[in-house]
Amino acid sequence: MKKYLVIGNPITHSLSPELHNYWIKENGIKGIYNKEKLNEKDLKELFLKIKNKEINGANITVPFKKDVIYYLDQLSLEAEKTQSVNTVNLKKDKIIGHNTDIDGFELAIKDANYDVEGKKVLILGAGGVVPSVIFALYKMRPLSVTISNRTKAKAESLKNLFNDLKIVDWGEASNFDMIINATSIGLKKGDNLNLDFSKFQDSEFFYDIIYNPKETNFLKDGKNLGKKTENGKKMFIYQAAKAFKIWHGIDPKIDEQVMGLLDK
Ligand code: ATR
Repeated sequence: MKKYLVIGNPITHSLSPELHNYWIKENGIKGIYNKEKLNEKDLKELFLKIKNKEINGANITVPFKKDVIYYLDQLSLEAEKTQSVNTVNLKKDKIIGHNTDIDGFELAIKDANYDVEGKKVLILGAGGVVPSVIFALYKMRPLSVTISNRTKAKAESLKNLFNDLKIVDWGEASNFDMIINATSIGLKKGDNLNLDFSKFQDSEFFYDIIYNPKETNFLKDGKNLGKKTENGKKMFIYQAAKAFKIWHGIDPKIDEQVMGLLDK
């Protein structure tokens, strides 16, 4: 029986086990996928277990996507460029870190039929997933990518990874084609970004990384302006599918039933 898991802190909210266990069963794989809340001091032991093949693969979520790099033998190009790892496997006795959030975001935007080329994109927030979103956006050749974060220093530090990034003060952003909520505001019902949405009158597309709840106030405000909106559900499913491919060599099926697994 092969063992997989997602680690993070907090972790109760994670729906990765629902997805992976569904695909494991569907593909007749002898395995199980669990979730585990860890502290930073537990990371060393986790990677020992991966090296010993007691654990066959792991997904990494907030707040450990950068911290785990210390324990890895090798990084994929994407993980290296973003300094962010969400999927780990063992290959020829080496622990390798991958970043499937990038593909997850890119595929989700393509599914939404939005063409980023030549567009001005604003990202709200500068947390763990943002380097992956930026990397994916640059692949799609936008005119510019701008970050606005409550703590400006955190946005500024992303310039170490991405030279061309623009930074604006929190609440000062206006005139963008696409606006991405990558903050944690919206996870709780009633959460509000408290931004002046009249500044986004000319925007076309409002995208939220959050998928639970399905429609954050950010997306509701976008909809009220009559704009195209999309939540982070497909991104989540695609990042999981890419991790599944890394571990099992199979592209899992993504259909209505799979989409329904996340409607909790
Ligand atoms: P982490 O920052 O640990 O990676 P995250 O959940 O990935 O965690 O990111 C949380 C994001 O939501 C951050 O950009 C955070 O802004 P700060 O860097 O200023 O903390 C943002 N955020 C959380 N609560 C917020 C609030 N009340 N107003 C504005 N931004 C908020």
